[in-house]
Amino acid sequence: MEKQENMFLKKSFVAITGASRGIGRCMALKFAVKFPPNSVLVLMARNVEALESVRTELQATAPNITVFVRQYDQGNTNEGYFKGIFDSLLTENKLSKGVFEQVMLVHNCATIGDKEKTTLQLCDADLVRSYYDINLCGMILLNASFFATFCDPSTSRVVVNITSGTSKVPSPSLHLYCSGKAARDMFFRVLSAEEPYIRVLTYAPGGVDTDMLRDLEENSSSTPIRKMLNGLRQDGHILTPDESVANLEQILEDNAFENADHVDNYRQTAQPYRTNLYIET
Ligand SMILES: NC(=O)c1ccc[n+]([C@@H]2O[C@H](COP(=O)([O-])OP(=O)(O)OC[C@H]3O[C@@H](n4cnc5c(N)ncnc54)[C@H](OP(=O)(O)O)[C@@H]3O)[C@@H](O)[C@H]2O)c1
Repeated sequence: MEKQENMFLKKSFVAITGASRGIGRCMALKFAVKFPPNSVLVLMARNVEALESVRTELQATAPNITVFVRQYDQGNTNEGYFKGIFDSLLTENKLSKGVFEQVMLVHNCATIGDKEKTTLQLCDADLVRSYYDINLCGMILLNASFFATFCDPSTSRVVVNITSGTSKVPSPSLHLYCSGKAARDMFFRVLSAEEPYIRVLTYAPGGVDTDMLRDLEENSSSTPIRKMLNGLRQDGHILTPDESVANLEQILEDNAFENADHVDNYRQTAQPYRTNLYIET
């Protein structure tokens, strides 16, 4: 892929899901100081107080960026729930989509699933369905809603799919998570085949110190997984959100990735542990 222009140079409309904490929060804070003035950042998640607090932090460091908070539940399956989300945001705030040189949707929201059960203990249809509602169905519907609003091919259109190394590595107790991430990665490969002018980055952030990782470290039913994560932490291989997002920023700046290829931050930090995991399980 030929190198293209640094994405942070364009006046942009950027929506980040899962922006209330963890990697998404960090992404919002770091992206806000990089995009040009009058770019728009939309912070999305369920916890509106946490989103408002990110907005306050963000406005202190990046006063020239417009920030909107949009509460939503990605697992909501009500008819029409995702339709027109971005159209309404633009209308309510009297914004014309034509003023943006670039639009970007970052699919960062995810859940880990019931890591206390093994694959053969997954007998509850509601539990399985609700996992895929949040992590697959809602993500697909939000994506369609975004690109229904931003359908002009003359605007640069970008989607960032936050994936995980576990979309490729079968990891005990992460049945729903691994398969959901693998399905998302393929979904975006198909999108990319259909819409070659939409830039698609599928980025695995590495092991990052967030609520999600700590929960897994403490509560996974798999001893090898807990041991691997404890080992990574002891050896200083768990990244801070800042470190992981800095790497993502570099990738968006370089803008040289192949559409929908898996770009993995994990390999640089923890490959030996991945290999061990294969052996132990
Ligand atoms: N941390 C890691 O080591 C690691 C490694 C590989 C990949 N990743 C990926 O990186 C991304 C961020 O992970 P993280 O570690 O920052 O996770 P996290 O700390 O658990 O944050 C998850 C975010 O998703 C939002 N969310 C959860 N359920 C939602 C729902 N039903 N509707 C809307 N928003 C919802 C949460 O906000 P609310 O609760 O406010 O809704 C929160 O902002 C995920 O895609 C994850 O799979 C993380």
